[in-house]
Amino acid sequence: MNHEVQVLDTREALAGRAAAEIEAAAARSVGQHETFSLAVPGGSTPVATFGLLAASAAFPWPQTILGLTDERLVPPEDERSNHSLVRRALLDPLAARGLAPRRVVPLPHEDGPDVAAQAEAVLDDALGASPFDLLVLGLGPDGHVASVFPATPPTPSSRRAVRTTPTPGLNPQVARVSLSMPEIARAARRIVLVQGEDKAAIVRRVLADIESEADLPGANLPKPGTLWLLDRAAASGLG
Ligand code: 6PG
Repeated sequence: MNHEVQVLDTREALAGRAAAEIEAAAARSVGQHETFSLAVPGGSTPVATFGLLAASAAFPWPQTILGLTDERLVPPEDERSNHSLVRRALLDPLAARGLAPRRVVPLPHEDGPDVAAQAEAVLDDALGASPFDLLVLGLGPDGHVASVFPATPPTPSSRRAVRTTPTPGLNPQVARVSLSMPEIARAARRIVLVQGEDKAAIVRRVLADIESEADLPGANLPKPGTLWLLDRAAASGLG
């Protein structure tokens, strides 16, 4: 099976396609089971998409459970916090329109030996045993997705969350809590957003299906149910 990849000419077009795909997935899920569970990442790429979603006239926010794919273990008001990013880029603009998701599900932000178990309790409480309907993911320059980094040991399939530390040199150098790879793979659908020429080399490695690259987390996403949205610069290394 080939990867499902769409290449958009510009960053604006990428954000527009991402918002349209997320909105379509929301409508499908609400039609099927009356709610839509969505988890979003941190990083710079999804910010424009958050702005479009916050301005959308049709998005089913009252039916949406909004969570995070990963969190940096910093105080919630710290600007490196993913929840703080989502608040500024999505929840505050929504609130200005008098709107809010049905439920917001932040991950724990205090580091400690139990942080992954605490994250799992948060997921169990918000979703029961179900996986997310949709995950939005980014791709790090080292091939990480959410906060599953290349050196993260394999996680048992029963574990929904994992505590990780970033690849050396990757910013911000703070410990993270993340959906585990099995939980990421279990989601009904995934959209990976990648932009910029600095991602061209890792996009090529991740999408090339080379056996020796199998330890790149991005290369371990299941092909069925994973849509890669790339801007032209990020796709420039593909043949
Ligand atoms: C995080 C993320 C992470 C991110 C990638 C891509 O908290 O950092 O969830 O997985 O999505 O590093 O980041 P950019 O969008 O900034 O390239």
